[in-house]
Amino acid sequence: MTDQSVEIAEITTEVDRLAAEAIAAAEGAASLAELKEIRGQHLGKKSPMGGFKAKLGSLDPEDRKVAGQALNEANRAVGDAFSTAESALGDAARRRQLETERLDLTEIRREAQRGHLHLVTQARYRLEDVFIAMGYQVAEGPEVETAWYNFEALNIPDWHPARGEFDTIFVNLGEPEEVMLRSHTSPVQIRTMENQEPPIYIVAPGRTFRTDTADATHLPAFNQIEGLVVDRGITMADLAGTIDAFIKAFFGAEVNTRLRPSYFPFTEPSAEFDISMPDGSWLELGGCGMVNPQVLANCGIDPEEWQGFAFGFGIDRLAVMRYGLDDIRELVNNDVRFLRQF
Ligand code: DAH
Repeated sequence: MTDQSVEIAEITTEVDRLAAEAIAAAEGAASLAELKEIRGQHLGKKSPMGGFKAKLGSLDPEDRKVAGQALNEANRAVGDAFSTAESALGDAARRRQLETERLDLTEIRREAQRGHLHLVTQARYRLEDVFIAMGYQVAEGPEVETAWYNFEALNIPDWHPARGEFDTIFVNLGEPEEVMLRSHTSPVQIRTMENQEPPIYIVAPGRTFRTDTADATHLPAFNQIEGLVVDRGITMADLAGTIDAFIKAFFGAEVNTRLRPSYFPFTEPSAEFDISMPDGSWLELGGCGMVNPQVLANCGIDPEEWQGFAFGFGIDRLAVMRYGLDDIRELVNNDVRFLRQF
């Protein structure tokens, strides 16, 4: 081996070593900036690899070829290592950028607040359910009525003192005091009997209106539920039993009911019904009675063949009692802090 060949072997070994070092450095770069710096150190003019290039000129042609080839291969391998590192670091940088610039839209979404039915609506639906379970149907009528349905057919002629008790809100239509906001749900009795053959078993819930000023126990717009049964052989015992059954179904088996004699033009005899309180006292809930034969006749039903009973009471007042509210106006103040409790 000549000195020359020793020298050339040393050169190629050294080139391989430098190349391996450069590749390892490229693979170890933590960022594109660092990679750029490493590239300068290992491939630049002043780098050891760059130095070899300058040395090639002093070799004889045979050796220059061998060394040049080794240097080219080393440069290619190092170049490849740098481009691989560069694209890997570029990908990582882009991923990091996407991650940090991502808009977290889930943060804006709030859990939607879900509401529920108003407690008067809940009471109304529960009452309907109780009566449907007893075989009744739910009937409805208009909130604006004529004197015939609101009064006349219910045996309240215009001269009757009971008219005054209803504190009616009249509508400026037709003859004076002919059209009105219904002051009770009893007109639905008339509409049902006019349109339906007995036997009839209905409840009619709905809004009613009076000129009352709102206070702790009154609302000018309130809700009633009316009951009407017309069938053969109906007696006051059926009425008392029905009232007791639905009150127990609504309030609980421990609650009792009683009837007290009263007066309504559309029932004869008439009664008011009370429910028992835990402390033994009685609370008045509504009115009831046997349908006045005159009312049946007004609707074209033969009172000799058919008898009936009817009842009516305020749903809002029922809710007030059931939940022990101390002001009925809470029901319409629309304060969600109040409504949410029920
Ligand atoms: N309509 C009456 C009122 O609003 C309540 C009422 C009493 C209804 C007796 C009835 C009944 O059906 O039989 O004051």
